[in-house]
Amino acid sequence: MGVERTFVMIKPDGVQRGLVGDIITRFERKGIKIIAMKMVSVSKELAEKHYGIHKGKPFFAPTVKYIMSSPVVAMVLEGNNVIGMVRTMMGKTNPQDARMGTIRGDFGQFIGRNIIHGSDGSDTAAFEINLWFTAEELTRYTRIDEKWLSE
Ligand code: RTP
Ligand code: MG
Repeated sequence: MGVERTFVMIKPDGVQRGLVGDIITRFERKGIKIIAMKMVSVSKELAEKHYGIHKGKPFFAPTVKYIMSSPVVAMVLEGNNVIGMVRTMMGKTNPQDARMGTIRGDFGQFIGRNIIHGSDGSDTAAFEINLWFTAEELTRYTRIDEKWLSE
């Protein structure tokens, strides 16, 4: 708990299928603050570093190829318990198992086309934010609704 940061990527299928606005709207309406955001054409080096933890697994190469196949939207979100909250909003890795109401449950069908990535813990969040963004790209501001979001 406490204020956290997480790295989120809308994968190529999410961008190609016109889901960027819907996904960002979900985060905004939940009251989650976007502190950095950009479109990225992912290099092989970046893709392999990002999924480095999965090196050696059968889905490593296809997953690297998938996130290089078209631009992605990369962002850093900040808020109370935001790492777990975003994972909950994404739903299970396989969209077939993800509940309706979640991003993957509502929009996906295949594990290899699951629309979105979100950091799975505080260590991976720190690693991924540092991998995808420079310190200067991370903004600081107060949202006018912040006092109405907490009790
Ligand atoms: P992500 O890292 O993308 O947020 O997804 P995740 O934590 O829910 O799942 P993870 O186990 O970290 O897997 C990373 C991505 O690899 C692809 N994958 N394919 N074919 C397969 O069995 C398989 N397993 C994983 C998915 O794109 C998954 O999001
Ligand atoms: Mg993961």
